[in-house]
Amino acid sequence: MEETAVIVEGLTVKYGSFVAVDNLSFAVNTGEIYGLLGPNGAGKTSTIKAIVGVLPPYSGKIQVYGKSLLEDEVAVKSMIGYVPEEVVLFDSLTPREFLEFIASVRGLKADIVSSRLEKLVDAFDIKKYFDTPIAALSMGNKQKVAVIAALIHEPKLLILDEPLVGLDARSSKILKELISYHAKRGGAVIFSTHIMEVAEKLCTKVGIINHGKLVGEGTVDELRRLVKSAEGSLEDIFLKVTEQETSLNEVIRALEEE
Ligand SMILES: Nc1ncnc2c1ncn2[C@@H]1O[C@H](COP(=O)(O)OP(=O)(O)O)[C@@H](O)[C@H]1O
Ligand SMILES: [Mg+2]
Repeated sequence: MEETAVIVEGLTVKYGSFVAVDNLSFAVNTGEIYGLLGPNGAGKTSTIKAIVGVLPPYSGKIQVYGKSLLEDEVAVKSMIGYVPEEVVLFDSLTPREFLEFIASVRGLKADIVSSRLEKLVDAFDIKKYFDTPIAALSMGNKQKVAVIAALIHEPKLLILDEPLVGLDARSSKILKELISYHAKRGGAVIFSTHIMEVAEKLCTKVGIINHGKLVGEGTVDELRRLVKSAEGSLEDIFLKVTEQETSLNEVIRALEEE
């Protein structure tokens, strides 16, 4: 049976009088990899920030596995692993220190943490940087640390804001596999991207956002068909999101070569 992982209903996010997210509704089932696809400035990050609870008050309803942040913040936050768009780490700590700190905040037992860390550090190939101050790491390696930090408590819901940007081909492939694995074993994933090809490769379902509104939803194939039959606006958005792919083209090509 499919369980609903996330329900977003009538979400509106404003910055002052500017409406960044406009009455947005969508749902994500367990086992789904849901892509929020839209051009830069569409409202993807604002939507994600509202779901994970790092945004000032918004209007609308958000539930994660039946629970609302407003009612049970601890429960909701413990079910979510979040990799932000702009990764913030403590530069003076090493990845080991940082990840152990995160694990202790999460209240995880030391032996569980060390075996999980070992696997993740191996998978993402950062063993040799594990005791190097974070300040000295490349963007890609910093992002890997952020991804590991998001996975350490084995969250049911994984939320990634523009993942793959800054990751090398190997790590992108691993992240992609992790996302699929996570969904297959009963988790759910939401991630945002402005790149059509990324959504196409990874998502089981895509919601297209433009100017804070959901303008289309379905599998990638369904959306393509819809675009063909629709006039104007949806096609424009598709063009926009397909034109913005330069930054990730290399990673994608490498993935295809595997
Ligand atoms: N802190 C903020 N203050 C004012 N405007 C913001 C803020 N954050 C985002 N915005 C605006 O809200 C809109 C949506 O931004 P964002 O959610 O970051 O979009 P996306 O992630 O799709 O690129 C953009 O027009 C952006 O300029
Ligand atoms: Mg964003």
